Order: sequence, then structure tokens, then C-alpha cells
Amino acid sequence: MSRLLLGLLAVAGLASARAAENPPGALPPLMLGTSWYPEQWPEARWDADLALMQAAGLRMVRVGEFAWSSLEPEEGHFTLDWLDRAIAAAAAHHLLVVIGTPTDAPPAWLTSKYPETLRVDENGRRLQHGERRQFSYASPKYRELCRTIVEQLARRFGHNPAVVGWQIGNEYTEDSFDADARHQFHAWLQARYGTLAALNQHWTTAYWSQSYDSWDEIPMGTGRGNPGLLLDYKEFVTDTWRSFQGNQLDVLRRAIDPRQFVTTNLGGLGWADRFNRREIAAPLDFISWDEYVARSEMTSSGQTAYVALPHVDPYRMGATHDLVRGWKQKDFWVMEMQPGSVDWASVSSSLDRGETRAMAWEAVGHGADCVAFWQWRAGLNGQEQYHGALVGPDGTPLPFYAEARQTAEELTRAGPVFAGTAPVAQVAILHDYASRWAIDFHPQSSRYDQIDVLLGYYRALRDLTQSVDIVDPTVPLDAYKLVAAPSLNVISPELAHRLAAYVEQGGHLLLGPRSGMKDAYNALNPERQPGPLAATLGGRVEQFYPLLDDVPVAGAWGAGRATIWAELLSTAAPDTRVELRYGAANGWLDGQPAAITRPVGRGTITYLGAVLDPGLMHAAAQALVAAAGVDSPTLPVPAGVEVCRRVGAGREVYVVLNFSHEPAAMDLPRAMDDVLHGGRVRHLDLVPYGVAVLAHAAPPPSP
Ligand code: GAL
Repeated sequence: MSRLLLGLLAVAGLASARAAENPPGALPPLMLGTSWYPEQWPEARWDADLALMQAAGLRMVRVGEFAWSSLEPEEGHFTLDWLDRAIAAAAAHHLLVVIGTPTDAPPAWLTSKYPETLRVDENGRRLQHGERRQFSYASPKYRELCRTIVEQLARRFGHNPAVVGWQIGNEYTEDSFDADARHQFHAWLQARYGTLAALNQHWTTAYWSQSYDSWDEIPMGTGRGNPGLLLDYKEFVTDTWRSFQGNQLDVLRRAIDPRQFVTTNLGGLGWADRFNRREIAAPLDFISWDEYVARSEMTSSGQTAYVALPHVDPYRMGATHDLVRGWKQKDFWVMEMQPGSVDWASVSSSLDRGETRAMAWEAVGHGADCVAFWQWRAGLNGQEQYHGALVGPDGTPLPFYAEARQTAEELTRAGPVFAGTAPVAQVAILHDYASRWAIDFHPQSSRYDQIDVLLGYYRALRDLTQSVDIVDPTVPLDAYKLVAAPSLNVISPELAHRLAAYVEQGGHLLLGPRSGMKDAYNALNPERQPGPLAATLGGRVEQFYPLLDDVPVAGAWGAGRATIWAELLSTAAPDTRVELRYGAANGWLDGQPAAITRPVGRGTITYLGAVLDPGLMHAAAQALVAAAGVDSPTLPVPAGVEVCRRVGAGREVYVVLNFSHEPAAMDLPRAMDDVLHGGRVRHLDLVPYGVAVLAHAAPPPSP
């Protein structure tokens, strides 16, 4: 066993010895936890549940996030003693506690007494009590009541040593169309535009006689409205959620120990774009997300539906972690993960044995510090009786409990090796909410799923480099050798300026289809695509074509097919070269450029006008990665195996995951510490869903 590993395991031993004496409050570098709802169970049962959590090696419980009616059974009457006792009981079992503020589930007294706090949907229907999320995020009265309960909780538990942090609300989701929200939208527009003349001009309201003479006339909607209005509405929704959160955040920050963190858990499978999630993450200490194995689809009525997937797609899931990490460009938590199965899919099938453990390790590989299962035990009644859990209705372990225990034990053992490490990438993919919204308002092709297009880039780049960041276009890009921007629809002059400077200074920029079509008001850029970057590119898009049938494409990068979308490009500068051309297609595209590249300053700018099939996408990415001088990955792995690399504190740590259904074997280029089993290894054999964690001292930085 290497000295590095021996040393780390000694630290691990010390850490767990210390944890046993626990002054609770210190956060272990990695941990597993769960959501626990003591208010649903007799107090006499709590200790048995907590003892089972401790025996499973769990280190964290989240409590309280739906318990408002138990914490304030009538207005102004607070009953927090039970939560105090629950926290003390959890601490006695060495569990660190996260308190969820209960503001996603207002009590019945509240909504009966203050019906104006109820959400109104887009059809004007006011919601009623009986589910959750029935509140209006814009209601001043609701915010006042939120502040009151959060103040009580913060005062009581803000210095409790067992409480390590807070989660505000639970998965912000629905906006509201009530009178308060409308009034605030109008005020928001007035603050943005100053005059109606400016608004009318940016939105081109002369179209269909939409011109406004008074702010109150402006409708609020998400249907096929004016594109400028729709984009502004999304920004307004973002700002309204931000102030909804800020209302509670202020109270918490004033009352709690700085030692306690504040986060929130975002749902919607990570990718949901009802609002800009990066803006929500900004004021929090770190961000968390809720990981369920599903994808979202647009129904024919334009609603989002979640469709469970039978198994983890490691690329989709890995990309989601990278997206979440990108919001704050730092490590994050998975606040909820399905313990095998959910209860909301058309067939709520279970993941295979071992698959959830691999999923937890994948999260860690991508930068998660804590993974928590939702939920510990299903309530005997209530809306989610059949959901996956760790113990059954009888209070004894379900089959999944053993897998959770193994995972917890491994995370605890490996934690010290991960302390101070983080994923590091030389390649970034840009994800931009304004562009997501602009395309989704008017997709032009129902086949153009922006997440799938992004994942096409991600798959190719991840296979080639094993590490990809997904970041907002406004973050500093200079650390990246290659930046890919699929579907960067909205490019303002400022963004164009930043991207051009990135290229000038040696960056390699790949723009994907639909780039640079719109400005920040969702108006068409008066230049052809990529709008304000066309001059830098020395070329442009002559016309776009949503495809029903694939089109052959070939050139310097290889040969394959354009699928879903194809743009006819042209070159204007003598040094802009054509990389790919279309074959016989609709006449318009035949023989025309599909991808062009131009050297600019010390870097290059490339425009790829087509969505490529996976093989050609891989070849294109290979050419770009080589041109950008991106380092080759250190661990060559067979197909179906994912490698995640975290670097820091003088070491490199690899999480190697076999997501294929076949055993996998690989030779390592050098001997490495086997963190989970001890010793040093030069060869790995991984069963399906097998996990290996490898570490070695990082090579000294090159001079
Ligand atoms: C999450 C939610 C939990 C629970 C879970 C079921 O979205 O935060 O409260 O409902 O889904 O899968």
C-alpha cells in the first residue's frame, strides 16, 4: 500500500474516530444522507429509525421542509419543541441536520385565511389546498408569513451545533398569474425599459397591432406571445424567485451562525428552465439538486412531462452534474436521489442492484460532496406511498438498505482522499438560459431538442477528454482551451465582444447551429448569423433548414450525416476555410459549406451549421480538440466505462464506473492506490455497475 494511501487512511481512521465523539457540525468531505419526516411518525419510533440510519453509515438527515402545519398549527402559535427533540435525537446518532424551510407546503389555515396567497395558473384558475406548491411566489402576504416561520426556526436552531445548514423551500417550480404577479411584472417592465416607446420598439409591437399605451395593458403569458415579452417574462420569473428566496435568505443570514450554510434543492432533473437557475444559485453558499433517472419531454399541448428512464444514462447524468457544478463553479450536493425507484413514472421500475451505488459515485466523481436519498421511509398515507425508500412500512430495512450501507461506508472511507479535490476541465460547453428560452418559445422544429443537441457535443467531448465543464457564457473562459456553444441563439454585442476576445487571446471557439440569431430582447439580429460574430468568423449563415431527412456531409473532419437541422454557410474572408460540405439534399444545401473555421489572433473560431450524427460529431470534436491542444486523458478506458477525475491537494483521484451491462477490464498506465480495497493496482476488472476509486500523487506542475 502506498504511503499516500496509508497516510490518507490514517487520516480517515482519525476522522471517523473524531466523528464518533462528534462535536457535530463539522462536515465530512463526503457523506450520504436521507430525508426524514419525524412529524409523520410517533416520537417513540424516532430512535429506532435514527439507529438504523446510523447503522447504515448515513451522516446527514434533512428535516422540516414540508412540516409547516406541525410547526405553526395556527397563525402565530409555534410548536418547535418536537423539532428540537428530533434534532437532538438525530445528533445522538451522529447525524448532521439540514433544516428545510417549510414554505413549499402552506398549512390549510393559511390558505383559508389568506386566499390571495394561492397561486393562479395561466388559465386564471386559483389553486386550492390539498397538494403542495399552491402558493403564489409573488404574494406579499405569503412572503410575510414565510418570513415569520423562518425567523422562528432561525432563532431557535440557528445556533444549534447539530444543525449544519438550511435548505430554502423545496424545488421552486411554478410561477403565478395572480394580480400581485401581474402588477409586479408591469413594474418590472417599467424599470427595464423606462418608457413604453422603448418597449414598443424592442418588441416590434407594431406587428399585429400590439403597441402599448399603458403598462397595465401588457399581457402576461407563456403561450405564443410576442418573443420579446416571452423572454422578459422569463427574466421576471427569475427575479421573482430570486426575491422570494432572498426574503428567507435575509432572515437566515441575520439570525444563524456563519458556520451554517444556506442552499436550496433544485428539481426538474437539473435542466428545467422555468427560470435561470444560475441566478438562483448565486447568493447561496452552494447549490444542490435532486437527481432522478428520467428525461423531460414536451407534450403535444406544450407541457413538460417527465419520463422515467429504465437505467442511468451516464452521459446525461454526468452532464447534469456538470451543469449544476457550473452554476457556481464549485462543488455541490445531491440533496435527493431515488433509492432505486420513484412513484411518478408510467412504469416506476427499479434500477438494477448496484446501479444506485454507481450513480452516487458518479455524482462524487463530478463534484458532489453529499448524496442524500429521498426518502428514508414512506409515510403510511400521503401522496407518495409507493416511492423507493430505505425502510418499509414495518420499519425494517428494504433490500436497498444494504446497498445504501455499502455506499455510505465507501464514501466515509474514501472521503479524506477527495478532500480538497475538484473536477478540472480544459473544455467547456456554454449553456445559456436566454438561448434556451428563445429557441423553446419558437422551436421551428419539434425535432430540435436543445438538451439532446448539447448532449451530442458533450458525449463526443467527454469521450475524448473525460472532463467537460458546462458553464454560462458570462464566466471567465480563459482557462479553457476549447469552448463549444451549441445553440447559442442569443448573442448580444457584449457577449460577441467577450467571445471574440477569447479567440484573439488563443481560445478555440466552436459555435453550433442557431447561434447568434437573436439579441437580448429576443429580436432577430439585423446581421445574419452568427450576428455580431459574423465579422470575426469571416462567414455567415445564408439560410437555415430544419430537416425531416438526414443529409450526407463530408470534408476534412470525415463523413457522415446532418440530422434534424442544417444551415447553409458561406465564407467572406480569404482565410476562412470550409471543413465540411453537404452532399445531395434539397438543392439549396447541395455542395454548400456545413462547417467553416477561421484563425483569428492566437485562436480559431469555427461555425458548425448542422447537427451531426454521433460518429461525425466525434470526428469533428477530435479535430477541434487536437487543434486546441487539449491534453489526452490519462486513463484509457473501454466503451461503457466512465472515468471522472478530481484534482487538488497534491493528488489526482479517479472514479471509474462500469455503466455497461458487461464486465469490463482495463490496464492502468501506472500503479495507483486502490482507495476502496487498499493496495496498489495496475489492472482493473469491473463487474456491471462496478466502481473503482484510484488515487496517486499529482505530477508536479510543468515549469
Ligand atoms: C422530488 C421532491 C420530493 C419528492 C420526490 C419524489 O421532486 O422534492 O419532495 O416528491 O420528488 O420523487
